[in-house]
Amino acid sequence: MRYLAGVDLGTSGTKTVLFDEDGHAVASALKEYPMYQPQNGWAEQDPNDWYQAAIETIRKVMTESGVDKDDVVGLGISGQMHGLVMLDQDDNVLRRSIIWCDQRTAAECVEIERRVGGRQRLVEITANPALTGFTASKILWVRNHEPDIFAKCTKIMLPKDYVRYMLTGDFATDVSDASGMQLLDVKNRCWSNEILKKLEIDPALLGKMYESCEATGHIGKKCAELTGLSEKCIVVGGAGDNAAAAVGTGVVKENTAFTTLGTSGVVFAHTDKLHIDPKGRVQTFCCAVPGAWHVMAVTQGAGLSLKWFRDNFCQDIKEQAKNEDVDAYSIMDKMAEKVPIGANKLLYLPYLMGERTPHLDPDCRGVFFGLSAMHDKAALIRSVEEGVIYSQRDGYEILKGMGIDVSDMAACGGGGTSKLWRQMMADTYNCPVKTVQNKEGPALGAAILAGVGAGVYGSVQEGCKKVISCNPSQSPIPENVKEYEKYYQMYKQLYPVLKPLYKNLADL
Ligand code: XUL
Repeated sequence: MRYLAGVDLGTSGTKTVLFDEDGHAVASALKEYPMYQPQNGWAEQDPNDWYQAAIETIRKVMTESGVDKDDVVGLGISGQMHGLVMLDQDDNVLRRSIIWCDQRTAAECVEIERRVGGRQRLVEITANPALTGFTASKILWVRNHEPDIFAKCTKIMLPKDYVRYMLTGDFATDVSDASGMQLLDVKNRCWSNEILKKLEIDPALLGKMYESCEATGHIGKKCAELTGLSEKCIVVGGAGDNAAAAVGTGVVKENTAFTTLGTSGVVFAHTDKLHIDPKGRVQTFCCAVPGAWHVMAVTQGAGLSLKWFRDNFCQDIKEQAKNEDVDAYSIMDKMAEKVPIGANKLLYLPYLMGERTPHLDPDCRGVFFGLSAMHDKAALIRSVEEGVIYSQRDGYEILKGMGIDVSDMAACGGGGTSKLWRQMMADTYNCPVKTVQNKEGPALGAAILAGVGAGVYGSVQEGCKKVISCNPSQSPIPENVKEYEKYYQMYKQLYPVLKPLYKNLADL
């Protein structure tokens, strides 16, 4: 039996799962790390934490599984997208990574569109308008605000590509993750000379481009010793976390879609043709299937909202979870389940880290609307969960409006394991929502990509067919659909009213 390792470099932690070639998880390990917020709207992480977490979790799955190292033939990495890692000529990390949900770069987005000659040209090449979350604006921010650091930079890479570089010594990236840098010609799947020239970014700073399932190299000697992997184990291009989750959920052909509830929340549809939202409310990227793309709507603070609530206001629940040896989120779910739809007239806007879809607004922030003395912790938990789903409904509607079929919908991510959250999704979208049997989403997707690179599977689709099977769907409940609709209509009215005030708040 051959084995494949999937490393999922997330925002709250890195999870490594070792799969056999039939897709069964034989061992799994998770290592969490902090996100730093030095200012309101800023978000940074230490690349060394990612590397250490990868080493530690790979070593753990190798030890715990007892699998012979020569049988682990491939490794793939799925990464949180967009984060900026800068190295000097001796490969030292120059500063903490400015990550995807950081919102400091509004001025640099204006600069990008000016330099490129307007939004239209930028969208024609990169398939997206200038966004604060994307890497290009982060590069310009460092050049504008920390010129001494920028002057020392010899390599720019994405989070998972830094871990690859440390594991293998190869300076490489893949088309799906590179799409989120805003330096890629998304149609032609290569760096855009025009964009690089206009932004005055030296192409030598960027890694070599691969498709997600192509081998980029092998595990290096030092990392083989540190992890217990063989130096013969290949490492593939890998993918941005959402593109990898698509593979791990079997969303690899036209007319299939999924919603993920991770730190961010994404509504994702595979497309064989390039579809671009001219208003830029949803993102178009190369997907992990060679020659195909995806369109996705992004809620910045999905699981992040619930984690924020848990970590700041649920110490008692965390204690209870520890004593009962259960997950705090499952206790929170049980509490929320007892609260009626609409959380007794309490609405939550999940804009803790600004918002991408549909508002493209780095200045907006979270809101509880309708708070009353009758509301307790359970009502607040329910309204957070509902607010996240309303935000995803915004994205779902935009995809539908673009003529993309999103009726074959799967749920994944940590939040996708919650039956309550999935039912809210089915009821709010008014569409059946299924899950796949293997819940490892991005890690499984990365492992399947590794399997293609290592010759275990003939193609990404073949790998998915072999290892992925679906559970029955949860159907929308007609009475619930009507109830949620009332609250969603009210939810939609809140942002336009608050929009000017958000700007004033940011300017204070
Ligand atoms: C996608 C995005 C997030 C991150 C973190 O564009 O910003 O989904 O990849 O999960």
